[in-house]
Amino acid sequence: MRIRAAVESLPDYNAGRTPALIAAEGGPAAAVKLSGNESPYPPLPGVIEAVARASELNRYPTPYADALRAAIGERLAVDADVIAPAGGSLQLCRSVVEATCDPGDEVIAPMPAFSAYRMAAELAGARFVGVPVLGPSAAEGPGLDVDAMAAAVGPRTRVVFLCSPHNPTSTGLAATGFVQLMAAVPRETLVVLDEAYAEFATDADTVRGMDMVASHPNLVVLRTFSKAYGLAGARIGYAVSGPVVAAALRRVTSPFSVSMPAEAAALAALHPQALPELRRRRAEVIAERTRLTGELRRRGVDVADSAANFLWISSRHGPRWARDLERHGVITRPYPDLGLRVTVGRPSENDAFLRAFSDIAGDVKNDDQEWR
Ligand SMILES: Cc1ncc(COP(=O)(O)O)c(C=O)c1O
Repeated sequence: MRIRAAVESLPDYNAGRTPALIAAEGGPAAAVKLSGNESPYPPLPGVIEAVARASELNRYPTPYADALRAAIGERLAVDADVIAPAGGSLQLCRSVVEATCDPGDEVIAPMPAFSAYRMAAELAGARFVGVPVLGPSAAEGPGLDVDAMAAAVGPRTRVVFLCSPHNPTSTGLAATGFVQLMAAVPRETLVVLDEAYAEFATDADTVRGMDMVASHPNLVVLRTFSKAYGLAGARIGYAVSGPVVAAALRRVTSPFSVSMPAEAAALAALHPQALPELRRRRAEVIAERTRLTGELRRRGVDVADSAANFLWISSRHGPRWARDLERHGVITRPYPDLGLRVTVGRPSENDAFLRAFSDIAGDVKNDDQEWR
């Protein structure tokens, strides 16, 4: 039996620690989970009923979620042909690389970033080129270094991953920076703009991928139902691009990747009856983001201006804070040597985080001068 070396050396996906695991280890019984950038709310109105109605499970769904593509197309005013659906946008990161890279080709992505970019490259036998993100002292704040990414593009580069708002730095990419990068990238190289958190961006300067697709045939925009739409457990994402790239992505993505219940859930979440509640939740997350940012800054903590549903605190001490917060019943996401990512939860969960953070605040103050 032979497993490809690229597969053998691939790490397992790290989904972080869970309340159940922490309780089983003898830690707090019901920890608050602010580590996955998930929606803290139950499914939107109509979603559970729609999933229950999707009961003809003995039949296959359409191979490429035709009804969902039609609904998304209508919402975005694009043709269904330019949409490639999948069981999560994570899958589409792999599809993009699989559609474009031969062994030895290059994939450029920011570091740190969503781990799927690197995994997709390594799985395809492509060379992964990580470009460090800007530090917090940069004029534009922490985030993508578009100059360095453009400079890293070479003759073997097939894919450039961008993420806006960026996970984990939380900042949006300015449209000017995006346009500058597109001008520097050869037209044969695909640029992937991962907009998993786009619904939470409020700054008018932030790039809007859907406005750019028609004028950039080498652009792929990734969106997901996992974050603002609160369907992480259902697994639905989609790519929007030009028709040639979209057809290629559909071909390399496993047919039937969006299951019948998942498609029903996404259609219900897109339905006008869900819209008022979707808007209310988005507004609450944004208000809570502002509140958390203000409270942390009041405590002397250096927090980035977030355009997403999570906050980023630059510090060498993220892992230690995460361990201390966990002992206080709050799970966050540490990045060794770089910082701490904290998902915006419901108001009571955010209060629990602020209380726990105040309890470890003595340590934070001592570390002040060591922040990058
Ligand atoms: C930047 C980014 N892209 C994509 C995803 C994955 O989304 P999906 O649930 O659609 O696979 C995540 C999940 O955390 C993410 O942070």
